[in-house]
Amino acid sequence: MVSASATPDVVVLGEILVELSSTEPLDAGVALTLNFSGDALNAAAASAAAGAHTALLARVPDDELGDRLLERVVALGIDTSLVMRVKGQHGLYLQHADPSGAREFTYVRRGSAGSGLGPADVPLELVARAGAVLASGIACAISPSSAEAVQAAAAAARCFVYDPNWRPRLIDANGAAAHLRALAPSTRLVTPAWPREAQLVTTANPAGGPREGADEANVGVASRSGTQALGGGEASDRGGAPGIGEARGGGGAREHGGEGRAGATEHGGEEDGGGGAEEGWAGDPVAVCGALRALGVEAVALTRGVDGVLLDDGGEVVEVAAIAAPVVVDQTGAGDSFAGTVTARLALGDQLIDAVRLGVSAASLSVGGLGGTGRVATLEESQAHAARAVEVCG
Ligand SMILES: Nc1ncnc2c1ncn2[C@@H]1O[C@H](COP(=O)(O)OP(=O)(O)OP(=O)(O)O)[C@@H](O)[C@H]1O
Ligand SMILES: [Mg+2]
Repeated sequence: MVSASATPDVVVLGEILVELSSTEPLDAGVALTLNFSGDALNAAAASAAAGAHTALLARVPDDELGDRLLERVVALGIDTSLVMRVKGQHGLYLQHADPSGAREFTYVRRGSAGSGLGPADVPLELVARAGAVLASGIACAISPSSAEAVQAAAAAARCFVYDPNWRPRLIDANGAAAHLRALAPSTRLVTPAWPREAQLVTTANPAGGPREGADEANVGVASRSGTQALGGGEASDRGGAPGIGEARGGGGAREHGGEGRAGATEHGGEEDGGGGAEEGWAGDPVAVCGALRALGVEAVALTRGVDGVLLDDGGEVVEVAAIAAPVVVDQTGAGDSFAGTVTARLALGDQLIDAVRLGVSAASLSVGGLGGTGRVATLEESQAHAARAVEVCG
């Protein structure tokens, strides 16, 4: 049981969703498993499991399903003292969990109670005392008031971590980039997914390219055990960033709806925000990290699925390899697991590189369960998995 009286190590803002998932393509007659998810819950669960006293700041409908939802939140070791019970409808999503990562989502969340989060809900003094605060682009996208809440919390936080989690069905690239740009100066760490969220950097930084010099001299070659050193120096030479319309490639997931009315589903087509810009500086992950720092973020952990994470901590760039997953059931929430774990470890005083290594390990284990919180690794499990990977890799 989590003590609600102490200041939390980590505060996570966002909306908790009802999750209905299937291992078969969604169709009439397909059995669905009920659970609770949403990136804020997934990340908060990972943060709590990583050893941080973690509180969720969210609005939850005041009904029976909301009671079950909060029981699940408590079971995940999360402090619910900042949860507000309100009138209104749940946000939910249906997903077809596909181990290959070709997921299919249908959202029903517009007008949900959770999207009513606003700046007046943010306890600024408590947020300022917390070790770290985590929020995502989804919390910014679901309503203007929720975006204001994130902005207020980021400004007050000692250590703000932002996961862009761009969902084109919720917000277009310009909108997502605007949130990124507004939050960047308050951000200790940003965790974009490569390649699809790289194009937000292009949009947020239309002049093209990382800041003058792009810390060319500082894009260092770091060698640490468990990391692969990367050269740099070419970052600012990548002019001619392509526009959004030119971005291509697959993002893996298909997303449907998201903007439907509460109570209605709306199926969209293939996710059109799919790939990262692959030409010019925006096609270069090191340069993208530099461009993000040019917006004001202190550090960037660019997540690259099975290719692991590129970490740029103030110009020192290292590659942290992914750890092979023992079981792959569903890739949903790997990024959330990573972000939650890293935020927890930062709040608890770990070095960023150590926090990222643990995050990579927790994320690798997280794909072994169905849905966003189907498998939440404990700190001990993540540590042991990381240690085994180091042994295997020599
Ligand atoms: N199949 C996998 N096996 C091992 N590690 C994985 C796997 N998929 C993801 N990871 C780890 O999780 C991290 C985050 O995953 P990814 O880059 O897919 O995030 P994401 O696209 O933000 O995911 P989401 O938003 O759906 O949670 C990766 O950098 C990697 O370290
Ligand atoms: Mg993500």
